[in-house]
Amino acid sequence: MARSYDNPSLVQRTHHNQQNDDLSQPVLEPQTNHTSSANPIRYVLREQRFIFVLIGIAIAVFFFTTFPVPNPQLESAQNSGFESGSSFSGQGIDLPANPARRVLLETRNVGGKVPLGVKKKNMRIVVTGGAGFVGSHLVDRLIARGDSVIVLDNFFTGRKENLVHHFGNPKFELIRHDVVEPILLEVDQIYHLACPASPVHYKFNPLGLHKTNVVGTLNMLGLAKRVGARFLLTSTSEVYGDPLQHPQVESYWGNVNPIGVRSCYDEGKRTAETLTMDYHRGLGIEVRIARIFNTYGPRMCIDDGRVVSNFVAQALRKEPLTVYGDGKQTRSFQYVSDLVEGLMRLMEGNHVGPFNLGNPGEFTMLELAQVVQDTIDPNAKIEFRPNTEDDPHKRKPDISKAKELLGWEPTVSLRKGLPLMVNDFRQRIFGDSKVNDAGSAM
Ligand SMILES: NC(=O)c1ccc[n+]([C@@H]2O[C@H](COP(=O)([O-])OP(=O)(O)OC[C@H]3O[C@@H](n4cnc5c(N)ncnc54)[C@H](O)[C@@H]3O)[C@@H](O)[C@H]2O)c1
Repeated sequence: MARSYDNPSLVQRTHHNQQNDDLSQPVLEPQTNHTSSANPIRYVLREQRFIFVLIGIAIAVFFFTTFPVPNPQLESAQNSGFESGSSFSGQGIDLPANPARRVLLETRNVGGKVPLGVKKKNMRIVVTGGAGFVGSHLVDRLIARGDSVIVLDNFFTGRKENLVHHFGNPKFELIRHDVVEPILLEVDQIYHLACPASPVHYKFNPLGLHKTNVVGTLNMLGLAKRVGARFLLTSTSEVYGDPLQHPQVESYWGNVNPIGVRSCYDEGKRTAETLTMDYHRGLGIEVRIARIFNTYGPRMCIDDGRVVSNFVAQALRKEPLTVYGDGKQTRSFQYVSDLVEGLMRLMEGNHVGPFNLGNPGEFTMLELAQVVQDTIDPNAKIEFRPNTEDDPHKRKPDISKAKELLGWEPTVSLRKGLPLMVNDFRQRIFGDSKVNDAGSAM
């Protein structure tokens, strides 16, 4: 082989053998090539070469007009198109990392303008746990904004009554579904709330809770990956455990007991955060993480063991308010509409998080009892009980990050929000026994 490459006459002979028949040129006549290049038009016209060139151009034109190449100007036009449809003006939205999704979004609104006569497309959003306390308020806001909402809920702690006002609305769908099982839906955003939040409920079935937090979160992240949706996890202040740092900033890693009775919730949510970040880093999924602090408001489960709902229900029923421990442990209490605003800003904004979403106003349990007495019954008695295991001593969010990057902070004080919740509880406890039964059913 090496020898044949060294012998130019051999190589030339092979080449000219192919052309020799039609050109009638002598073998080994190097001038043949010069003749072709001296007359390029004849060269191109020979053997239908010109037709092949035309076919090639036609294929290229077809390809580039059918599949336009993304460019940065187009992307910024897309961003501004989305912002104008969003309720949070001034906050940009990243186009998804997933190329399939990018093509979908780009073809939706090329040039940032909606053609005349074509309605602007609203988003389709999944809310897991949407029949629960926080989820149902979030659904109200999303529907009011004009989006289509699909709720997935297994009704472990959620209630259809929380959503009944949307039944019949073509933009609303409710699916009885356990997130532990996979599901395929074509959606733009996923708010993943499915998980009981009160100790009474999550201690009821710790292994089921693990499945919800781990398998359920994996399933929803898998869905986000498959359809290129943006994913928001509702984590919790419980990831800080019994904190050694006060107030808690997002960079604090926490002080969590991994083997206690509350660990199924605390560690489950920590794992859910880890999974979310691994999907983001490893697979480029767009994610958001909210760490929610104690939230209260209408539609909370009655008698679910959370301190605000406990005190309100007890005061309404003329029962003593049960304070665990010495009542000096502190909590912050956020009204549900503030939380929903924070979740939506987080989803629509450009930042992954995690973000603390809570009200930094700090109350001892005894101070909270005092507010409940002032609001419902000044004669309500207080009864002390031994504290529960692993109950954190202090909890107060540092919300500087959310203030700065999301432009968010709570606006409803405890004294303003509590009466709104009391009205709802009064109606459910005394007004409609069916609603009350459903609320406390487990
Ligand atoms: N409310 C708070 O103070 C608070 C604080 C921190 C974090 N969070 C988080 O916010 C989210 C919502 O909390 P909430 O207060 O509305 O609780 P909730 O118990 O009222 O609502 C949870 C909803 O999830 C549903 N659910 C539970 N397991 C499910 C499963 N496997 N499949 C499908 N649906 C399931 C329940 O039926 C319910 O509708 C939870 O993820 C919770 O951990 C809430």
